[in-house]
Amino acid sequence: MLMPFRDLLERRRAGSAIGAFTCYDLEQAVAVLRAAESAETGVILLLASRSFGGEEGDVLAGALVVAAARSAAPACVQLDHSSDLGAIERALAAGVGAVMADGSKLPYAENVALVRDAVERAAAAGAGVEAELGSIAGDEDFAVAATAGAFTDPAEAAAFVAETGVDCLAVSIGNVHGAYRERPVFDWDRLRALCDGVAVPLSLHGSSGVPDAMITRSIALGIGKINVNTELREAYLAATVEALPVAVAGAWLSALHRAQTDAVAGVVCAKLRTFTSGAA
Ligand code: 13P
Repeated sequence: MLMPFRDLLERRRAGSAIGAFTCYDLEQAVAVLRAAESAETGVILLLASRSFGGEEGDVLAGALVVAAARSAAPACVQLDHSSDLGAIERALAAGVGAVMADGSKLPYAENVALVRDAVERAAAAGAGVEAELGSIAGDEDFAVAATAGAFTDPAEAAAFVAETGVDCLAVSIGNVHGAYRERPVFDWDRLRALCDGVAVPLSLHGSSGVPDAMITRSIALGIGKINVNTELREAYLAATVEALPVAVAGAWLSALHRAQTDAVAGVVCAKLRTFTSGAA
């Protein structure tokens, strides 16, 4: 069932975080929703902005919204990382429950202006907004080894949230999208200050490749939403390679799709266990 972004975050069990998983197709969406149903937890389906910008982007957005609405798990579809107000408007029209207005590459005042505009448009559609302050390095759709970008300043983050009225803030504390060039190291004091000083839930992007112990420590400090993509793509592609010979031999497409869905659901189940392991 569809649940507003803010409700999903606010109603999460104390000591847990909401998982947000990128879905490039229906196989992935079905896998994520199935895992959330069996974990009896809410979930967010992320729509990558490059997928949404493709020719069939509106169709994919609509399909994710329908899949989320039909699920027994409380779910919300979110357009991930977009600095394009036109795309944000189109995604809202397609029925997404949240957008990430990403002005992290802009100067502070322009980031504020972008996010304020997005908050106004989203409010008119009954949707929520996430923003980013500091800069999370790496690519969102393919895995290149990256080192951390500019870290989020706690005082600036508190002011940014107050100025924009955003529902959730993505922070940079040593996390990167895709692959980590070196072992991930988080700035725990900074995360503690951010969680203590910022009035809305914080999100952790770039969780693929981060050890579970670091994830649970982030949640214990107050992280409320965790984005996962790369590990899902890896599982999907490994399952595709394994299932392909049998699928090709029998021109058996449904067997290939089942293998992909099962593989992704397995990863999501494990992630959701970690994200809820500290729940009261
Ligand atoms: P990973 O690909 O590193 O899991 O990051 C996903 C993400 O943060 C999407 O916004």
